[in-house]
Amino acid sequence: MPAHDWKNAPADRTSTDTLSAAGLEYRVIDTSDAETFHPYLQAEMRGFLAGEQSDEQLGGIRDGLAFRRFAGVYDPAALEPTQPVGTVNSWVTDMTMPGGRVIPMWAISGVTVAPTHRRKGIARAMLEGELRTAAAAGVPIAGLTVSEATIYGRFGFSPATYASDWSIETKRAVWVGPRPDGRLDFIDRERLREQLAELHGRIRTARPGEIEAWPGLWLRMSGLAPGQEGGGKLRAVRYADSAGTTRGIAVYRLSDEGSDFTKHELDLHYLLSETDDAYAALWRFALEHDLVSIVKSPLRSVDEPVRWMIADQRGATVETSEHGWLRILDVPTVLTARTYARGGSFTLRITDALGFAAGTWRLTVTEGGQAEVSAVEGPADAAMSVNALSSMLLGGVRPTTLRTAGLADAEADVAASLDAVFASRETPYLSLWY
Ligand SMILES: CC(C)(COP(=O)(O)OP(=O)(O)OC[C@H]1O[C@@H](n2cnc3c(N)ncnc32)[C@H](O)[C@@H]1OP(=O)(O)O)[C@@H](O)C(=O)NCCC(=O)NCCS
Repeated sequence: MPAHDWKNAPADRTSTDTLSAAGLEYRVIDTSDAETFHPYLQAEMRGFLAGEQSDEQLGGIRDGLAFRRFAGVYDPAALEPTQPVGTVNSWVTDMTMPGGRVIPMWAISGVTVAPTHRRKGIARAMLEGELRTAAAAGVPIAGLTVSEATIYGRFGFSPATYASDWSIETKRAVWVGPRPDGRLDFIDRERLREQLAELHGRIRTARPGEIEAWPGLWLRMSGLAPGQEGGGKLRAVRYADSAGTTRGIAVYRLSDEGSDFTKHELDLHYLLSETDDAYAALWRFALEHDLVSIVKSPLRSVDEPVRWMIADQRGATVETSEHGWLRILDVPTVLTARTYARGGSFTLRITDALGFAAGTWRLTVTEGGQAEVSAVEGPADAAMSVNALSSMLLGGVRPTTLRTAGLADAEADVAASLDAVFASRETPYLSLWY
């Protein structure tokens, strides 16, 4: 099955058989059939602890996500057999590698199992089924973002990008950064949706780890999804350069903190910038906003320059956590798709309980940073799991760190040269949840 036909990939045979032995049915559903898709979406939303969705909300979710491949596990003995007891959806999207090339990634989302059917192996059957289907379609890597960090390591996923949540006290922070000349304008929500899509499309290849977005995401980000609560409170400004071209967008919401009107909180939901000027102007806009005492901004990079644009760095509280998880399926394809910081040659032994990435691989990188990879026999310079290799892939996790943590077996000098070769000029970053 070619990768472009991912939407029609059938349910994995092995998982179908495993689930069938437990009296369950595993099938890919028809997203154009509301009779099937709406009960499916209700089950998925319940799995994420949300309430029952209205028809309008279901329609909005359906329109935003129907392009994906949805698979469900059904229990024919259930009182509501049209509602699945397990859900997972997936699609193939671009992911940026160090150096700016993109590779197709099997993105996985919406993994839920009904609390009535938990811990019977349904999630395992679905996840392993997704990985086998991705590999059969020739997709070299899978990715996801997680609700809990304890679930996906067992399937070979591991964090490759980290994100930070910022909370800045505006009175302490005091802007000391640049004051660019371009102009700021409010934009309405329809224009916001269009310009977010355009701008993200232009800049996503500049950051390893970033993926292609989907139209439904921008609709929701702009507060325009049908039945979306709180959309009217969203505000957006754009920064335009001297030629009038949009170079950055900030989407935010203001909320008051009780009786003191001077203490509003500004939640900076999303900030996209194509230039340093746009970045500085939009952060300054947020931090100097009148009647605001706190600016909160989730899911920022771990090396935000704003830290150096405020007078008192302790006015900012920053919490960092893993965000983008990757799972290599095809070692030669992913390792040759990126560029490297310098030349080197290593033999890597990779273990993988599911088999996809297992083997001993010779990685040879030219001084110009281009790689060749071949399967070899014999001893290795470094040994690690597919999890560790997936974490190293984008340059965001250092091999020496993994070695100290007991997750990579290599001499210290080999790990140090892996650090130097795998380093990425841009800090890996994923600006979205999916
Ligand atoms: C997380 C969830 C999908 C697991 O489904 P499940 O069918 O109960 O999982 P399985 O029975 O297939 O368990 C597979 C393995 O994962 C482990 N596991 C499952 N859920 C786990 C969790 N929340 N934390 C840690 N381990 C977990 C199981 O112990 C089992 O381990 P083992 O096979 O290595 O012994 C389900 O509990 C759920 O829907 N949770 C709410 C929604 C959610 O958080 N989804 C994840 C979105 S990113």
